[in-house]
Amino acid sequence: MTNMPLNKEDESASNLRKVLSHYLTGVTIVTVTKPDGTPYGLTVNSFNSVSLTPPLILWSLDNKNSHITLFQNTAGFAINIMAADQTHLCKRFAGQESNRFADVDWTFGASGQPLINNALAHIECRPWQNYAGGDHTIFVGEVLSARHLSDRPAAAFFKGQLGHYES
Ligand SMILES: Cc1cc2nc3c(=O)[nH]c(=O)nc-3n(C[C@H](O)[C@H](O)[C@H](O)COP(=O)(O)O)c2cc1C
Repeated sequence: MTNMPLNKEDESASNLRKVLSHYLTGVTIVTVTKPDGTPYGLTVNSFNSVSLTPPLILWSLDNKNSHITLFQNTAGFAINIMAADQTHLCKRFAGQESNRFADVDWTFGASGQPLINNALAHIECRPWQNYAGGDHTIFVGEVLSARHLSDRPAAAFFKGQLGHYES
């Protein structure tokens, strides 16, 4: 089989972004406790399952993210799977607001990472392995605990828009 060369349009980042935007995902907020004890979190839709035995998940972070060293050095992080009625938080945790946790109902989980109450599920992880992935870093986490909290409709991301999915 010969390798088909991609044409310039297919190769472009903007085309790839557009094509991938047609893959519907859920929405998470990945959280971590900073060395000073305060919480940090960002909206992430690159979250996915990896393995059941051992229990592994992954997500990827833009290497330009100013908080990347937090995740490179942390003893853990948490995945908050977001509900449709929390899309305002998904927007806030992707935006410019200085205090993303203002008025957010959250607590520290058993592993010491911030958990957003009223999320659909919480997954607490410790680092398993990090991988270079082009302009992103892939963080694989070992699941320490996974808790389903609610059957409310889920936040969804499709064609660049936040929406919702109801089963
Ligand atoms: C729906 C959605 C999904 C996102 N998924 C990711 C992701 O998987 N990885 C990533 O690095 N940024 C992702 N972002 C962008 C980050 O949330 C954003 O760059 C980050 O909050 C910037 O944080 P900072 O201002 O603290 O650097 C996503 C944004 C949105 C709205």
